[in-house]
Amino acid sequence: MQLSKHLEGYDKDLVEVVLGIAEVTKAISRGFITHQGKADTSNLYGDQQAAMDVWADDLFIKELGGSGLVRYLASEEQPEILEFESDTDLAVSIDPLDGSSLLSVNLTVGTIVGIQRGGVLKPGSDMVGAMYVIYGPLTVLVYSVGDGVHEFVLHADGEFVLRKENFTIGSEKRLGQGAARNTYLPFHEEFISRLEADGYKIRFSGSFVADVHQILHKGGVFTYPGYLGSERGKLRLLFECAPMGYIVTQAGGAVSDGVVDLLSIVPESISERVPVYIGGKREIELIMGLPK
Ligand code: AHG
Ligand code: MN
Ligand code: MN
Repeated sequence: MQLSKHLEGYDKDLVEVVLGIAEVTKAISRGFITHQGKADTSNLYGDQQAAMDVWADDLFIKELGGSGLVRYLASEEQPEILEFESDTDLAVSIDPLDGSSLLSVNLTVGTIVGIQRGGVLKPGSDMVGAMYVIYGPLTVLVYSVGDGVHEFVLHADGEFVLRKENFTIGSEKRLGQGAARNTYLPFHEEFISRLEADGYKIRFSGSFVADVHQILHKGGVFTYPGYLGSERGKLRLLFECAPMGYIVTQAGGAVSDGVVDLLSIVPESISERVPVYIGGKREIELIMGLPK
């Protein structure tokens, strides 16, 4: 079944945004060879941008803003929320290219999208949908609009075709862990030690979207914690953690900042960073239960 068919019956404006984003990701999947290397600019977070970061961001702004598909658009690569003339109240937050530091070593990267109504500075629990696209050996699209989690693969004819419908998180013991061990806070050290003692195997590539996609399919937990020098961690609430947390939660998993359900957090600003623990309910209950 094709993506457009699978989306039949959901709100028309939401469907048009998911399909519009899907179209842009097809162009991105073909664009890596002609947009290699670094741009000579940096983003709000001080990260030097990859040529692909800038090009992908521009494509999404043209597609979503230019065509009036969304009212608000917040991008990891833009310093402010963009507002457009539109008949809809849809508000999209996007990480156009997550893991872009890995492009130079040809590892898997992806696009992450969260969809709200009425504005972007809302808790993840208010989302009307989220999706991500992984650019790997295959180009794979995963979405949820609150009615299960579904995976599609981009075929040679340019169509995203259903591969897994209503799938739930796996149950293997896999652990993806960011930040350097010599900066771990005591409760995080305890968390990691318990999982390693329980036989969890390390799975970490440095691309959040790819690492979480693996945990979603296979099971376990990914964490980029708060650490000595940055108690709020590295990853962004709006562009990375909430959208992926929404999808993992819809698939029967859970997401936390270590203390509360991450989807309950109201973003103060688009650039808000948050410690993230995302994966199976068992692992998230463990970290939330540890004394801080
Ligand atoms: P982005 O490429 O959008 O800036 O995101 C990179 C993030 C995330 O994908 C990954 O988990 C994390 O950076 C890795 O950070 P370190 O390189 O510090 O481990
Ligand atoms: Mn990112
Ligand atoms: Mn990015």
